[in-house]
Amino acid sequence: MQRRNFLGLGAGLLAARSARAAQGHIEIFVDEPIGTISPDLHGHFTEHIGGVIYDGIWVGEGSKIPNVGGIRSALIDAMRALKTTVVRWPGGCFADSYDWRDGIGPRAQRPRRANFWINDPFMVKAPDGPQKYEPNQFGTNEFGRFCRLIGAQPYLAANLRSLPPKDLYEWIEYCNAPAGQSSLADARAAQGDRDPFGVRFWGVGNESWGCGGDFAPDEYAVEYRRYTAWLPKFGVDLALVGSGPNGGDIDWTRRFFAKFTEKGTNALRKMYGWALHYYCGTSGAGQAIDFTVDDWYSLLAKATRMEPLITDHWAAMGEIDTEHRVKLIVDEWGAWHRAGTEVHPAYLFGQTPTMRDALISALTLDTFHRHADKVVMANVAQLINNLHCLFLAREDKFIVTPNYHVFALYAAHHGAQAVRTIFAAPAHSVRDGDQQRRLAGLAGSASLKGKTLVLTVVNTDAGQPLETEIALRGASAKSARVSTLADADIHAHNSFAQPDAVQVREGNIASPGSAFTFRIPAASVNRLVLELE
Ligand code: AHR
Repeated sequence: MQRRNFLGLGAGLLAARSARAAQGHIEIFVDEPIGTISPDLHGHFTEHIGGVIYDGIWVGEGSKIPNVGGIRSALIDAMRALKTTVVRWPGGCFADSYDWRDGIGPRAQRPRRANFWINDPFMVKAPDGPQKYEPNQFGTNEFGRFCRLIGAQPYLAANLRSLPPKDLYEWIEYCNAPAGQSSLADARAAQGDRDPFGVRFWGVGNESWGCGGDFAPDEYAVEYRRYTAWLPKFGVDLALVGSGPNGGDIDWTRRFFAKFTEKGTNALRKMYGWALHYYCGTSGAGQAIDFTVDDWYSLLAKATRMEPLITDHWAAMGEIDTEHRVKLIVDEWGAWHRAGTEVHPAYLFGQTPTMRDALISALTLDTFHRHADKVVMANVAQLINNLHCLFLAREDKFIVTPNYHVFALYAAHHGAQAVRTIFAAPAHSVRDGDQQRRLAGLAGSASLKGKTLVLTVVNTDAGQPLETEIALRGASAKSARVSTLADADIHAHNSFAQPDAVQVREGNIASPGSAFTFRIPAASVNRLVLELE
């Protein structure tokens, strides 16, 4: 059962009114900047797992499904609309078993290999196909082209478990060296990509505490130094990413940074970001579509653990990296539901996102915005036919999920200055196993670019709207456009049969001024775009 209590999150104006008044308050301090919201915070992740690559992104050049050079056209169009700036590939756990040389050269001559995930009990039961036996039809050139087609930068995860450092610097050479100057660059050009891909982001392994080598943190620190001791630049400002902690594993962060800098803090120059992974799982929280109201609150509360994870790891990093030269990255996040809603029996971790997942997307992106001074990139896992996906595809069928709508709405924050904002509303007290967690009734973020103020806000209440006062401190608005993603049913989702079941609705608030009231629908994600006077 949920208990409700009123928690005023800020001092002054936002004092509690009454224990039963279902009211919310939002106060936006337009003169109190936090940091620039990098569009990279809305990045994506694509792994050779289940239906992400084969059928999701790659349909093949000869396919009857509309494609651009083998890449699904509908996906390209939808991604362009999101203005995505970065996509991670090829894993995930797959990355540490991947030989990038398997995925280059004429496609007909590329080898087939057992996929990393072939032993997963789900895959053992799955029919044979490219999900089990990797055909390498989608490799570095194809991924580079996908990124070019959608206007995003590639973020490649290197294999630290089963390839030597030489492969990392040769992969960089293959991607970034000028054609005509190096045999590897010529091999790239021979596949049709004369212009270098200019790959800046390189992950030095993935989950090196687990599938990426099962290292202890100090062992991984030594490997990280070895793999990054020399890398060719070709004029690209390489941004190297360390395999950070699994959720709340502070020991991994502390011990890594201690060992990494044992020869001096100059080592910190070799790392752009430290990549945390956090999934809110479904244990005790039903399945993707079939869940109770208690499951709703429980999973949303788990998703909000992202905030203490960011602040805790940031503090631990700061014990050694006192100037915070290294920033945080969250290159895998999302809800991880039990199997049962995948669109094909070989699509490992495939799931059908609902409104609950949309709220998790919004709560998480808002958290990143509020910590825009610490987090420089995040990659939701995964793009299509997988965990927390934005798209579902099966052959010629292709739909967007509620998560897609959140990313589309939140793109309005790109490049804007996050500003301090206080949200206050009755909170939910949620039981999670032996623990009692608190879920804020309202949560969100605000940002300012020129005269445009964007407020995004989530009402986590499964059944009650919130009459909310919104106060602008230091500004007044002449207009407000409102976009709301909501549905009377918290289980609402799109399907191939009903592709537009979940939709965004638009409205306006006339003359908002410096304070106005907005009734925030139950279980909703909202974006207000305010034009300041
Ligand atoms: O996203 C699925 C898997 O989750 C990734 O391969 C791995 O990095 C993580 O454990």
